[in-house]
Amino acid sequence: MNGPSEELLRMEGITKVFPLEGGGTLTACDHITFSVRPGETFGIVGESGSGKSTLARILTRLETPTEGRILYRGEDITHLSGEALRQHRRAVQMVFQDPSTALDPKMRVRDILCEPLLNFGLIRSSETDAKARELLRLVDLPEDFAGRFPHHMSGGQRQRVAIARAVALAPELIVLDEATSALDVSVQARIIDLLRRLQRERHIAYLFICHDLFLANNFCDRILVMQHGKEVETIHDLREAKSAYARKLTASVFTLEEGKNKVLPPELFQ
Ligand SMILES: Nc1ncnc2c1ncn2[C@@H]1O[C@H](COP(=O)(O)OP(=O)(O)OP(=O)(O)O)[C@@H](O)[C@H]1O
Ligand SMILES: [Mg+2]
Repeated sequence: MNGPSEELLRMEGITKVFPLEGGGTLTACDHITFSVRPGETFGIVGESGSGKSTLARILTRLETPTEGRILYRGEDITHLSGEALRQHRRAVQMVFQDPSTALDPKMRVRDILCEPLLNFGLIRSSETDAKARELLRLVDLPEDFAGRFPHHMSGGQRQRVAIARAVALAPELIVLDEATSALDVSVQARIIDLLRRLQRERHIAYLFICHDLFLANNFCDRILVMQHGKEVETIHDLREAKSAYARKLTASVFTLEEGKNKVLPPELFQ
């Protein structure tokens, strides 16, 4: 049994309706319910526009749901505001697809890494250099990167910085929205290894949004398959998908020679 006490986060009947310019509405998320357990990697897959990022933005409280509740450790945080919301943001961090836009190009890595810690009063400014070096070591980057600017690093190195910044506040959950999608395959594999190690060491739960079904299947404990804002199914292994939609989605990804054929159906992912 998975009682509420085992749930870190529960999204309950989450619906998001956007008004469209020129009238009408678009239902980006339609009564979505799922929960994430402490230390678990929960994946969300589905074609472009199926509502994955909207769900992530609602979960991190960047967006308010039209309907439904967000429970965090059993507490309803759907309408949390002010200082309570600020404190909640320590526990749930987010890493986006493109580290070059997520990291302020005018800031040195030291300041990028330490800004959240300073904001929460967790370190003094005299401690920033030592803390930045510690965080760089944690994500296997050279300590002297502390003085660098983001544009003097590779995409993979920038994503390590983004992960280090997210981890700095000791979160319980990190939302990774296509966080490895812009990286080439070998860099991506090393970032996944890093995420796995951090999860082992720190018991962090991940919400992993990814259009690479093969990667999602390897990395995630459970996967929510979405289509047009709706849950299609939630499954441990995409190779055992039951719904016609998920089977169609995965058909060309998993072959007998798994790993050699990673071609995605072009009509599903542009
Ligand atoms: N602020 C907004 N106003 C109106 N419509 C929006 C808004 N944000 C998202 N949408 C629409 O909601 C739907 C879901 O978008 P969302 O970004 O969640 O999809 P996604 O699954 O993350 O897609 P992708 O894989 O391309 O990132 C899309 O049709 C999108 O155009
Ligand atoms: Mg998205």
